[in-house]
Amino acid sequence: MENQPNAEWFEHVISKLEDVDDVLLMEGHQKSHKKVSDALELLNWAEENLTRGTLPCIATRHSTRKFKQEPIEEEKLRQVIEAGRQAPSGKNKQQNHFLVVRDKAVLERLVELVQQEFAKMEITDENSEDIGGAIRLAKKGNYVFKYNAPCLIIVANKRNYGNRYADTACAIENMMLAANALDLGSCWINQLRWLKDNPVIMEYLYELGLHEEEAVFGSLSLGYADSEDGLPNRRMVPIKGNEVTYIG
Ligand SMILES: Cc1cc2nc3c(=O)[nH]c(=O)nc-3n(C[C@H](O)[C@H](O)[C@H](O)COP(=O)(O)O)c2cc1C
Repeated sequence: MENQPNAEWFEHVISKLEDVDDVLLMEGHQKSHKKVSDALELLNWAEENLTRGTLPCIATRHSTRKFKQEPIEEEKLRQVIEAGRQAPSGKNKQQNHFLVVRDKAVLERLVELVQQEFAKMEITDENSEDIGGAIRLAKKGNYVFKYNAPCLIIVANKRNYGNRYADTACAIENMMLAANALDLGSCWINQLRWLKDNPVIMEYLYELGLHEEEAVFGSLSLGYADSEDGLPNRRMVPIKGNEVTYIG
């Protein structure tokens, strides 16, 4: 998969061939022009089908951690949320709860509270691998857990339901893929899940609409990437972990 040409590769080759085609046309080489334009048609087809389907969308998705403040179009946001809602769930329970936060004051308050609550904690042998970094950064101040994205989608489920992590993870992955397909950047954000038993955070989330029996199991920062072309980074990287054992 990692050797498959990506969108940039196609763009480069197509533009080179178009230059050649222009010269052939200008110099009246009709037969060669026909061959090159056939090749261009094939390449355009391949670009459309090999770089924009489901598998390339999965292979090129990567986390975005620098966002523009530009708001997300309503229709795009709706499509991302629908992708989350369409995710499979254990026994088809469909009981994920999506809190879509765009209100600047609320986002700022969440950042403030997350920093405040992590800063109160101490790093221990038990928590250092998972939240040691968050505690250290929070104690220093200026800890923006959601990377200034203009939108944070918090995904909750029933606190004691057996498939709570699996159902929310399916929804979050669906939303990350939809975001990539729609040229939006996204990043899984776990801090609210680490703080799911923190009374200060819980009280604020209840104010925002979380139901009493629910807890947060993940969230997603969403927005346009603060990159030169405004697109999420779509490089393909070879996967070195994730062992596969074929039996038969
Ligand atoms: C369960 C889970 C929790 C994660 N939590 C965070 C997080 O809190 N903050 C963050 O910046 N990235 C988080 N990530 C993103 C991973 O760091 C990222 O997906 C991984 O390093 C692979 O990089 P990529 O997404 O660019 O391919 C999380 C990802 C998963 C699946």
